[in-house]
Amino acid sequence: MILDPFVIKNHTFKNRIMMSPMCMYQVYKKDGVATNFHYTHYTARALGGVGYIMIESTAVLPNGRITYEDLGLWSDSQIEPLKKIVEGVHALGAKIGIQLSHAGRKSRTENIVSSTNQPFSESYLTPGRLSPEGIKEIVNAFKASARRAREIGFDSIELHGAHGYLINQFMSPLVNDRDDEYKDGLKFLEEIIDAVRSEMDKDQLLQLRISAYEYDELGLTPYDWAGILNVIKHKIDMVDISSGGVIPNMVNDYPGYQLPFAKIIKEETGIITITGGQIDNLNLANEALEKEDCDMVFFGRKLLMDPFFIYKYDESLLPTSYKRASTLIKSKS
Ligand SMILES: Cc1cc2nc3c(=O)[nH]c(=O)nc-3n(C[C@H](O)[C@H](O)[C@H](O)COP(=O)(O)O)c2cc1C
Repeated sequence: MILDPFVIKNHTFKNRIMMSPMCMYQVYKKDGVATNFHYTHYTARALGGVGYIMIESTAVLPNGRITYEDLGLWSDSQIEPLKKIVEGVHALGAKIGIQLSHAGRKSRTENIVSSTNQPFSESYLTPGRLSPEGIKEIVNAFKASARRAREIGFDSIELHGAHGYLINQFMSPLVNDRDDEYKDGLKFLEEIIDAVRSEMDKDQLLQLRISAYEYDELGLTPYDWAGILNVIKHKIDMVDISSGGVIPNMVNDYPGYQLPFAKIIKEETGIITITGGQIDNLNLANEALEKEDCDMVFFGRKLLMDPFFIYKYDESLLPTSYKRASTLIKSKS
């Protein structure tokens, strides 16, 4: 199952494994430009047999970075090294997307902004509440970054609507305390989706990452998100289901902890769903697909630790040059 191909529009993913977006904090000059580290990091996972690589959170504006070491796509000068990564990953037979994001009040940079003027916690800066003009600038920044993502040749764009970053700050009733036309955060999200779509090739896929559950009785639930997604599902191709990070509270995590959220959303909306969370083996991923909890499974920390773990399940997938390594693989993990 998990190693079977998956077709979405005119894209055939060679398997249903997505490398989850993970910040690497490896930009050295605070310029948002990808480095040799990023090239090696992403192509290594493609070499390891991952079907779908998602590049880490990449900011659409300098004050939308989570840290100064994050990737950015607010300038044409950031295009070239990302193009090399895309070419490298494609040459290894994998698809690749980029996660476009704005951290809002969770940014550790300066002059930060949000849907609110309340900080994330005492240890974060106090954000300026965005005016409608400020919002327009951010929507335009997403649009410009999408244009660059098209020029680079990404197969997909993932909008980071999860983990309490800016889109989530507009969507969540735990954060959005506005009384203007953006009180319903869906207006902000839809403006971004429309702007980004207007720059994308018709073959490129648009994916939204959400925090389907906010671990607070007043926060959003998978059922709330299903209702929201039913309004916008004709505009997006896939939803990537995560949870938490909206307010500084505890996440109750265990292997597969987000599968129930994905199942609800898949059943209620019919959208293609990707999820994961503490999944460190392909058997659990297979179970999730068999139970129709989701359509693809993401792996994060497992791939940091063991970029070649897929081949331990199926040695026949080893690249030709590595075939002789199979004589050494004794235990499956
Ligand atoms: C080092 C690290 C960096 C992360 N950075 C991001 C990120 O840039 N964007 C994002 O949406 N999630 C990020 N996450 C969350 C992961 O994408 C993933 O959802 C989470 O780690 C759970 O999956 P796992 O248990 O397979 O690691 C990060 C996680 C880790 C461990």
